[in-house]
Amino acid sequence: MTSRRLSAENDPIRPDTTSPIAITMDGAVVEGLEGQSIAGVLMGTGMLAWRFTSSANRPRGVFCGIGVCFDCLVTVNGQPDVRACQRRAVAGDTVLSQHDELPVPPGEPR
Ligand code: FES
Repeated sequence: MTSRRLSAENDPIRPDTTSPIAITMDGAVVEGLEGQSIAGVLMGTGMLAWRFTSSANRPRGVFCGIGVCFDCLVTVNGQPDVRACQRRAVAGDTVLSQHDELPVPPGEPR
C-alpha cells in the first residue's frame, strides 16, 4: 500500500516544512509529521483500522474525523479511549489498538 501523506512542498494549503516525528503503533515505529493527529499519522502510513468492535470484532478507524463517533479509539501512553482524530501525535507516543469486551450487566457472570 502506498503512503497517503502529502509532502509539505506539494501541499497547496500549508506548504510550510514540518519536522518528522515517530510514534509506536502496537510496537511498530510509525513516522509522521509534527502537528498531525494520531489518526493522521496512522492514515498517512496507509493504516485504516486500529479498533475492533466488541460484538463482531469488525475493524474501525476514522469515521467522522471530528470527535463525534468514537470509532477511532486507541490507547495512548496507557490511557484508554483516546480519540485518535482529536489527539495530536507527540514524538515517542506509545499507541495501542483497542478491542473492548461487551459490557456485562451487574450481577451476571462474565
Ligand atoms: S473518527 Fe469519529 S471520533 Fe474520531
